[in-house]
This record gives sequence, structure tokens and C-alpha cells, in this order.
Amino acid sequence: MPWTRLVEDASVKPGSMASHLVREGLPVLVAKSAAGQVYAADDMCTHAEAPLSDGILTGTQVMCYLHQAVFDLAKQGAVVLSGGPGTIPLRVFATEIREGWVWADIPDGPPPKPGILSG
Ligand code: FES
Repeated sequence: MPWTRLVEDASVKPGSMASHLVREGLPVLVAKSAAGQVYAADDMCTHAEAPLSDGILTGTQVMCYLHQAVFDLAKQGAVVLSGGPGTIPLRVFATEIREGWVWADIPDGPPPKPGILSG
């Protein structure tokens, strides 16, 4: 990779998010804030194996459905509320819109494994 074409920008509605399988074992979350900013991140909670695309997007923050950790896509994936045990920041990728498509700078290699035992 690393710059990878993900999805047509127009297909991502403001205030929505969806998962896109970039390659085997690497689902990427594409989210668009209500203000129209596009973000791309690992579609896997850093706490355990729960897809964040099944959670709730509020502004730039994604809440994991499983234990309610909240990650801020606009703050490099920082955990802003660990209502559950999630404490590890989410990997957020740089994005660009090129000719109507969302591109993300996704490093080669496998995604980090959720830190189930790290608290
Ligand atoms: S799996 Fe997401 S907070 Fe636990």
C-alpha cells in the first residue's frame, strides 16, 4: 500500500460510518462527521475484537458497542471516555479526497491486535 482508495466520497453520508475490507484481516472504518470531515481508522476496538462500525458515531467520536469506550477520530484516536476497559488509542490514518474518492494512508503489515489483557 500505503495510500489506498477506499470508497466514493459521495457515498459516505455526513454523520455515518461503514466498514471497508482493505485486505484479508484489515477492515477499515470510514466515517464522515456531520461537518463533512472524513476519517479512516482500524475497524476494530483496541480493547477486544469488536468492530467499531457496529458502534455509534457522534460528531468525531466513535463509541464501541461492547464496553462503551469512546475514541475521538479528530484526536488521533485518543480514548476520551473509557466507560469500559478500553484505554489504548485507535489507529487513525491520514485521508485525502482525490477525484471524488476517499484515500487513506494505511501502513503495510497486519493491524495491531486488540489488547484484551492490557486493561
Ligand atoms: S471491546 Fe470495545 S471497549 Fe471493550
